[in-house]
Amino acid sequence: MQQRIEMDPYEKLFLKIGLLVLVVWLIVIGFEGFIANINPPTGSQTVDPAKYSISPGLNKTGPDTYDAYYVAKAFTFQPNDLKIPVNSTVHFYVTSADVVHGFFVPHTDLNMMAVPGWVNNETHRFTKKGTYLLLCHEYCGIGHQDMFAKIEVQ
Ligand code: CUA
Repeated sequence: MQQRIEMDPYEKLFLKIGLLVLVVWLIVIGFEGFIANINPPTGSQTVDPAKYSISPGLNKTGPDTYDAYYVAKAFTFQPNDLKIPVNSTVHFYVTSADVVHGFFVPHTDLNMMAVPGWVNNETHRFTKKGTYLLLCHEYCGIGHQDMFAKIEVQ
């Protein structure tokens, strides 16, 4: 004869609460993703990940404004060394050619994800000269810790 496992009533209650929280969370996530269409932050445009992306580089759009197009790819950023004059306002457009990468420039408000199929964007005005480090801060594989680039403000 099989032995019945006796469960403490409180243990049963906590299991039920845990299950309920999980179900509510899945419903909320499902609603956000599929119905409310909440997607990667700042994702303004989509690109075909197969073709894969935008062409990386810097375009001057005004006397002190630029558009900087970045492609993140394991384990580099293109462009790898961006040179801009001080007091420039730069609109950054970022996508990935493979997996999710990060796009983070310490001491600025630039902090994005690089997501395949999406172009995320943020703007920053560089008022101090110097070399800024651009880091990948999303774990993306074996070379993640070597994935960085430079932004030189001259
Ligand atoms: Cu790219 Cu971590």
